[in-house]
Amino acid sequence: MAEAGHSFLARLGKTRLRPGGIEATNWLFEHVSFDKNKHILEVACNQCTNAIALVSKTGCSITAVDLDKEVVELARNRVAEAGLSDKIKVERANALKLPYPDQSFDVVINEAMLTMLGDKQKIKAISEYYRVLKPGGILLTHDVKLAEGEMTKVIEELQKAIHVPAKPHNESDWREIFTKAGFEDLTVSTGSMTLMDPIGMIKDEGLVRTLKIFKNAIKKENRVYFKAMFHFFRTNKANLGYIAIVARK
Ligand SMILES: C[S@@+](CC[C@H](N)C(=O)[O-])C[C@H]1O[C@@H](n2cnc3c(N)ncnc32)[C@H](O)[C@@H]1O
Repeated sequence: MAEAGHSFLARLGKTRLRPGGIEATNWLFEHVSFDKNKHILEVACNQCTNAIALVSKTGCSITAVDLDKEVVELARNRVAEAGLSDKIKVERANALKLPYPDQSFDVVINEAMLTMLGDKQKIKAISEYYRVLKPGGILLTHDVKLAEGEMTKVIEELQKAIHVPAKPHNESDWREIFTKAGFEDLTVSTGSMTLMDPIGMIKDEGLVRTLKIFKNAIKKENRVYFKAMFHFFRTNKANLGYIAIVARK
């Protein structure tokens, strides 16, 4: 199977694999006071970039899960290298069937994953987040947002560009999905897609890492894939953005 876009970018050295980058993430995190008494779950943690940054900054503890076995291994190594294995528990789990009891967490974080699921699965995953959150708990998500209007061709081209059957939505459809899954109290922010934008990359990764990513991207074996993704996102600037949602149970 062709390598998924996020795995490809991670292999090139990218650590934040989300449409609105660190700015959207920071906006989400402003809505929660992270402290060591909070029980936090991050779903689709990938390399634990968020968890490591949050724990280093606030001293909180996090349970971080991902479905991909290799990614879980990588995340565990990164957490150990950061000396945070006592604060970040990394487990393999599926968002569609979380292995945690009802009402176990104060906060659930889930960035750049729901877009990868079909519509029924999206509702299932968000219902799981609702189930594991305590009353008054907060869900923080961040995904790809489509512009209004007919976007069938854009979705098809996105799927080809990133080798994932992704299905993003416009703002009103995203809102409806969250409401169907039980969340009625939503605070929403939207903005431009920064994933492959050079300025966005520098904000996410810093200049030195960005240069390394581009150096890896132009290697013979990576060039064609990178160019196709880069071109797709550049030509679809007006059609694609991010949506960040703070949803309260
Ligand atoms: C685009 S990456 C985003 C990673 C990270 N959240 C970020 O923003 O940088 C999507 C991640 O979702 C994970 N994933 C996909 N389906 C999942 C599921 N059903 N349950 C848990 N993780 C899943 C993938 O393994 C991958 O690490």
